[in-house]
Amino acid sequence: MTAKLNARGDVAVLVPAAGAGLRLGPGGPKALRLLAGEPLLVHAIRRVAASPSVRLIVVAAPAAEVEAVRALLTPVAPVTVVAGGAERQQSVALALAQVPADIGIVLVHDAARALTPPAVIESVAAAVREGRPAVIPVLPVVDTVKEVSADDIVLGTVDRSVLRSVQTPQGFRHEVLAAAHASAAGSLTDDAGLVEKAGVPVACVPGSELAMKITRPLDLVLAEALLRLPDSLSG
Ligand code: CTP
Ligand code: MG
Repeated sequence: MTAKLNARGDVAVLVPAAGAGLRLGPGGPKALRLLAGEPLLVHAIRRVAASPSVRLIVVAAPAAEVEAVRALLTPVAPVTVVAGGAERQQSVALALAQVPADIGIVLVHDAARALTPPAVIESVAAAVREGRPAVIPVLPVVDTVKEVSADDIVLGTVDRSVLRSVQTPQGFRHEVLAAAHASAAGSLTDDAGLVEKAGVPVACVPGSELAMKITRPLDLVLAEALLRLPDSLSG
């Protein structure tokens, strides 16, 4: 059944999905790889569309797959599909160009974090709505982390209590993300990094283990197991 988005929602979600998925091993683009019989992108969009604040979803697809992605997502939710770029940052910028000025909150959410619960999407959006210019979902770091030299000698142990692992969706006031992209030089793996550089404070909210990024083959095995949890859509 096609989800209906909230015409009065104040949030646009950009979903960069144009990557090749090289670390996942041989196969098609990652967003189209199957997880429990359905493409990762379908899992991701279903959860974005289930988030009540969302008015617009823009997907950046691999250039050769734009029509296929449109056809794939039509039964899932109303989405705008554009061709992505060579780098993630370009894919985000191309998707951002589709967002009308009257949508105040923009979230950027990797298709690769296909099982991110709607509750996380909503809590990031809520924190922006409450006045934070930029918001990221985070988890505590579980491993001990060492700083090492170029020749692999330990220089020191980092205080783990001040470290966080960062997930998506990352949320922004629309104008904050637009300004960061307009002045962006180089390439960063996350959008909050761009606004940090511009001196904007970035706030953290709790992430979710379900928002893990599917990167390597074992992550697919873990994601299939997580999908079998009873609360894997909303929890
Ligand atoms: N992405 C994108 N455009 C690119 C590169 C990446 O839209 N040119 C998207 C991916 O589709 C993914 C997200 O950014 O949803 C995070 O990237 P990553 O996990 O690195 O995915 P891939 O780049 O596809 O994987 P790999 O780096 O292993 O090739
Ligand atoms: Mg990549």
